[in-house]
Amino acid sequence: MASKLLLLPFVLLVGTALSTNPLSEKLQEQLKNPAVVNFREYLRIDTSRSENLPVGVEFWRQQAAEAGLEFAVYAPAGKPICVLTRVGADPELPSIMLNSHMDVVAAVPSEWTYPPYEAHVDEEGNIYGRGAQDTKDIAIQYLEAVRRIDALNVTLQRTIHITLMPDEETGGFEGIRPFIASPEYKALNVGFALDEGLSSPTDDIYATYQDRRAWSIEITVKGSGGHGSSMPADIAIKKLQKLINVMMRYRKPLEKALKSVSSLEYGAYTTLNINMINGGLAANIIPETFTLVADMRLCPAENATEILSVVNSWAEFAGNGTTVKFLRREMESLATPIDESNPFWVTMKETITQMGYNLVPVVCPATSDMLHVRNTGTPAIGFAPKRRTTPRIHAADEYLNIDIFLQGIDIYVPLIINLANVPASGQESVVAN
Ligand SMILES: *[C@@H]1O[C@H](CO)[C@@H](O)[C@H](O)[C@H]1NC(C)=O
Ligand SMILES: *[C@@H]1O[C@H](CO)[C@@H](O)[C@H](O)[C@H]1NC(C)=O
Ligand SMILES: *[C@@H]1O[C@H](CO)[C@@H](O)[C@H](O)[C@H]1NC(C)=O
Repeated sequence: MASKLLLLPFVLLVGTALSTNPLSEKLQEQLKNPAVVNFREYLRIDTSRSENLPVGVEFWRQQAAEAGLEFAVYAPAGKPICVLTRVGADPELPSIMLNSHMDVVAAVPSEWTYPPYEAHVDEEGNIYGRGAQDTKDIAIQYLEAVRRIDALNVTLQRTIHITLMPDEETGGFEGIRPFIASPEYKALNVGFALDEGLSSPTDDIYATYQDRRAWSIEITVKGSGGHGSSMPADIAIKKLQKLINVMMRYRKPLEKALKSVSSLEYGAYTTLNINMINGGLAANIIPETFTLVADMRLCPAENATEILSVVNSWAEFAGNGTTVKFLRREMESLATPIDESNPFWVTMKETITQMGYNLVPVVCPATSDMLHVRNTGTPAIGFAPKRRTTPRIHAADEYLNIDIFLQGIDIYVPLIINLANVPASGQESVVAN
């Protein structure tokens, strides 16, 4: 068996790196799957750095060419947005957008078992890399599913757009926000969108139909400065102390309410965390200011106007000279209907259920690009077939198992076929065989 002999040096190399067991033959074969090759190549592009986004664009340009898809790059606010298009049999029908984001959050290599941008595979078939769950996996799965649909010669009535956003992790200010407002987006005529979803430790698959509203609140307190040997009364640190105290008092009942709630139910609760405190120049200087940044997520039931006055009351309580600046403040986050009124939802639910999975609708505890799509009135669901996966979005050792990754493509194929064939009337639905 010549192939076995040829593989031997590779096995030895991998084997000496970090694990003692060689990769199984099944895994060796899976690693040659073009979808897996593409996934690992994409993971190796460190898109936590904006300067690497052009490398991502070239990656997608090449993928589009190989898959025979139309390719366009838009940059309404400077950063590139890629759109890969497969024109449907009826291009007048509103299209299906398959969205993901190219950017990833930063990774601290010392916290990881394997380097975050090497797409290392362990003997269990887990592929490690920043973006393996958020959201480089689904981007490659969309592409591979569309390729397979083409190979099946299935007719899709609606046009499919695979869209790749920059800047999702930092609020979409240079990504989805300006894109949604652009004539290029309107020209896509999006009727329904899928985007990133939650990792599921069980066999259930989650569908997010609404996002919590993200607020990033920067509060600056001011007081008398001076030499470190003096002792003025009106100092900034006292105000910071009052501010932290009043915010922690507000946090206490929220914390209590969440005590026995699973992270997947977080969407129904409001959360508050103080995540940054800045101030001070030297040990012998009394600083005039301290700045605090809090991350607040408003659940659907929360009244944003009321929260706004709560935040202002904290500033007032801290003392004179305190100022509030919102780095991000989503006032509205519309829900996509998850009932008979939404034929895309009905189709999704039937398709996933027929494959034997349980599709569970939840409010997204975080905030995604879909908030902006839903706020324009377009239905959008956060969905990802990341079953049996420990959620490690934004955490160290983010990974995806190769079997789960490949099975995810099997799930997207009928799902995309059925969504793209939802009739214009919006009444009937098409079901997987
Ligand atoms: C798809 O169509 C092409 C061209 O007509 C044909 O060569 C191929 O065999 C078809 N594939 C399937 C799976 O029907
Ligand atoms: C939110 O609260 C404000 C102020 O109390 C009130 O005027 C407004 O009607 C409330 N909005 C909703 C949707 O309940
Ligand atoms: C706050 O008010 C006091 C009393 O009026 C005043 O002395 C102090 O300068 C003010 N501090 C700031 C930061 O405005």
